[in-house]
Amino acid sequence: MKQAHRLKGVRYDIRGPVLRRAQQLEDAGHQLLKLNIGNPAPWGLATPEPIVADVVHNLGAAQGYSDARGIYSARVAVAQYYQNQGVTSVQPDDVMLGNGVSELIVLAVQALLDNGDEVLVPSPDYPLWTGAVTLCGGRAVHYRCDESAGWMPDLEHVAAQITEHTRAMVIINPNNPTGAVYSRETLLGMLELARRYDLLVFADEIYDKIVYDGAEHHTLAALAPDVPVVSMGGLSKTYRAAGFRSGWLAVSGFAGRSTDYLDGLQLLANMRLCPNVPAQHAVQTALGGYQSIEALIRPGGRLYEQREHAWRELTAISGIDCVKPSGALYLFARLDPAFYKIHDDERLVIDLLEQQHLLLSHGTGFNIDEPNYLRLVFLAPTDVLRDAVGRLSAFLGTYHQ
Ligand SMILES: Cc1ncc(COP(=O)(O)O)c(C=O)c1O
Repeated sequence: MKQAHRLKGVRYDIRGPVLRRAQQLEDAGHQLLKLNIGNPAPWGLATPEPIVADVVHNLGAAQGYSDARGIYSARVAVAQYYQNQGVTSVQPDDVMLGNGVSELIVLAVQALLDNGDEVLVPSPDYPLWTGAVTLCGGRAVHYRCDESAGWMPDLEHVAAQITEHTRAMVIINPNNPTGAVYSRETLLGMLELARRYDLLVFADEIYDKIVYDGAEHHTLAALAPDVPVVSMGGLSKTYRAAGFRSGWLAVSGFAGRSTDYLDGLQLLANMRLCPNVPAQHAVQTALGGYQSIEALIRPGGRLYEQREHAWRELTAISGIDCVKPSGALYLFARLDPAFYKIHDDERLVIDLLEQQHLLLSHGTGFNIDEPNYLRLVFLAPTDVLRDAVGRLSAFLGTYHQ
């Protein structure tokens, strides 16, 4: 039985052949050290108790379908969250809940694109964005993020990628995989391009509260009330509830414009009936309650200390550089080509997996051209991270391609 033609160009390599090999090794009884996925709970970073309690408390009332956009209390909470961030126009009817940001990415892209439409996507990116654009018949056109400038989007390069077919721009801030937190100036520059070329902006801000060293996250939609923005966030990272599959989007900047796109979005939301209802009951408590993430990202907190530790040890390996992440949960490390002659980074991570039973993600899986980057998730406790970096160091010490 052949798969659909439209899947042919769709790639999601970070969960592709490497993960299949990992599965085979596990099936054969090997224990793997997996630092390849931003899933907090397995590392003891549990969903805060009051959030779990609220879901449990509401289970009895969560047995039927909800409004296709999500339950009202959750949409109010999301609207108020964006209002407090300065996106004053957002009302509950501008909010839609989903089964994680992942579902909403596909929905939001699908509602926009015709075959051949182009979307500006960062390179490197969170690869679901490129995959979703391709799945929906569009073309992901990658704009460069400049490693030498802390992985900020290169505005000249962004502008040079715009054609008559460009419909939208994706901004992931704080960024996965680079950990960059974009400056206000950079964001204003991106918004100016969106304004000039009438582009819809997708703002993936799932890591908005995971910032370090005083870095400030600027909510994109608040910087340009006149530009149509679809802002996205969720419970997976900040609230360590990835398994709940709960996220949201909020639209702003559509005043005085056709609602055609929004009607399309509503149609798609209706077609999936509604998002998981029990998990929606977590949203109000999460957004309105004590923000336990703050204790994790300050000095002494687990995420802060793990980032420090992993970054220090990783960059101590000869030939490895890594821009220190200001946000999110990842180190995106560069293997200096003068030290390591790598031409196939997927092979590299499979070899690492087989030799050291350590699972990392390869850079080209994030739609970057050069085959000399690795992404390491720093959710594990420091002793585990030390073990992982030790295994990587031992592996690289003798590795040749
Ligand atoms: C940038 C980014 N966007 C979206 C997602 C998807 O998150 P969710 O669990 O809400 O589907 C992730 C998950 O890693 C991510 O890193």
